[in-house]
Amino acid sequence: MDKIVIEGGRRLEGEIKIAGAKNAALPAFAATLLCPGKFVFSNVPDLRDMDTMIALLKVMDAVVEKHDGGVVTVNTENIVHCEAPYDLVRTMRASCLVLGPLLARLGKSRLSLPGGCAIGERPINLHLKGFQSLGAEISLEEGYVNAAAPDGLTGQRVYFDLVTVTGTENLMMAATGAKGTTVLENAAREPEVVFLADMLNKMGADVRGAGTDKITINGGKELKPAEIAIIPDRVETGTFMAVSAITGGFLKIVGCHPPHVEAVTLKFIEMGCKISEGPDWLEVTGPARPRPADVETNPYPSFPTDMQAQAMAVLAVADGASVVTESIFENRYMHVAEMRRMGANILIKGKNAFIHGVPSLSGAQVMATDLRASASLIVAGLAAKGKTHVRRVYHLDRGYERIEEKLRKVGAKITRQPDKDKK
Ligand code: EPU
Repeated sequence: MDKIVIEGGRRLEGEIKIAGAKNAALPAFAATLLCPGKFVFSNVPDLRDMDTMIALLKVMDAVVEKHDGGVVTVNTENIVHCEAPYDLVRTMRASCLVLGPLLARLGKSRLSLPGGCAIGERPINLHLKGFQSLGAEISLEEGYVNAAAPDGLTGQRVYFDLVTVTGTENLMMAATGAKGTTVLENAAREPEVVFLADMLNKMGADVRGAGTDKITINGGKELKPAEIAIIPDRVETGTFMAVSAITGGFLKIVGCHPPHVEAVTLKFIEMGCKISEGPDWLEVTGPARPRPADVETNPYPSFPTDMQAQAMAVLAVADGASVVTESIFENRYMHVAEMRRMGANILIKGKNAFIHGVPSLSGAQVMATDLRASASLIVAGLAAKGKTHVRRVYHLDRGYERIEEKLRKVGAKITRQPDKDKK
């Protein structure tokens, strides 16, 4: 496995281009299972999670071809297999997104039940409860969930007890194949949900209200494949905003969609950044030293949990005390112990992290067990004095496209090296 080595303390300046959004591309690829034919995707990010999704589609007998420039074609003419196996699900929980489309198209699907993961328990009970409301029978057998609707699905009202992003996406996809109307209440409003609804409508479905907490799907329409451009990644955008904030740098972030990161933009302005924006770019000037700010994660349009760790890295060197509250996942503070090793002063109490900003961090050997925690250690390492070795880069490659190359271009001293220590 590789590691990333950073010599921190440099001011970064230049232009960075944002890739397509992982969390938009994953459900979009799963949606290809809804009908036979050839889909053409552009702006697909080159990530490990996308490779896992492609492997999964291939297990289902799809023909997937990667072309230059982020173009991927997915042909779902012949879908016979409907089982998402353990080896793929255990490396990527979003594998569960195939359940809804397979149930809609084939009337059955089978998924190795995801276990707990590094950021929390993350059950899929609300997905399953939703499928049951539409008439599916759900059973658990040898670690696998079987979902079956031999007579098809029927539209219903579905109320989500919690706001769930992939749960909303899964149900939206299943409901396109149900007879009659489905109404999803307390639905997620994330941009990725709106993007998926747009894709489904382009395929011939009738999905209304995406972006609000009530989504109506008039099911049973005939679906056809479509050409789809993946929207820009708002978490990658926010991560580079954090880079500018912590290095006192100046980054022009291009190919992004500023309205999707509004809560993040406002928070970084509170921390002392100067930010200007155009239709598809943001210019972020970091302060000499960040100001403290309180951050609470909540579903969109609030501050995203996927940016919590990167914001915390910036607050770790702020001129004062901040409180971060993680309201989505119960265990998303895995980066804190590593940041402490770099000299950060952070205390965790329940879902709150109390941060006393220190004048500077120092480089250390660090490692994280999830994607965004790894990104936050890169952010911290860019500002730290001395060398930071971020190990288990595997996590980073799941969700960031060649992050070290992008950072090198704006002046970072950062390299990827083989990690001789296998532990
Ligand atoms: N939850 C349940 N039961 C369910 C579903 C969710 O209890 O059936 C709980 C979860 O345990 C969590 C909360 O509800 O406490 C919200 O989870 P959600 O279902 O919204 O998360 P997700 O759909 O599994 C997506 C993103 C995550 C992102 C979260 C929250 C994808 C593929 N993943 O996950 O992205 O953190 O929404 O915004 O869209 C990442 O990219 O690093 C990442 C983890």
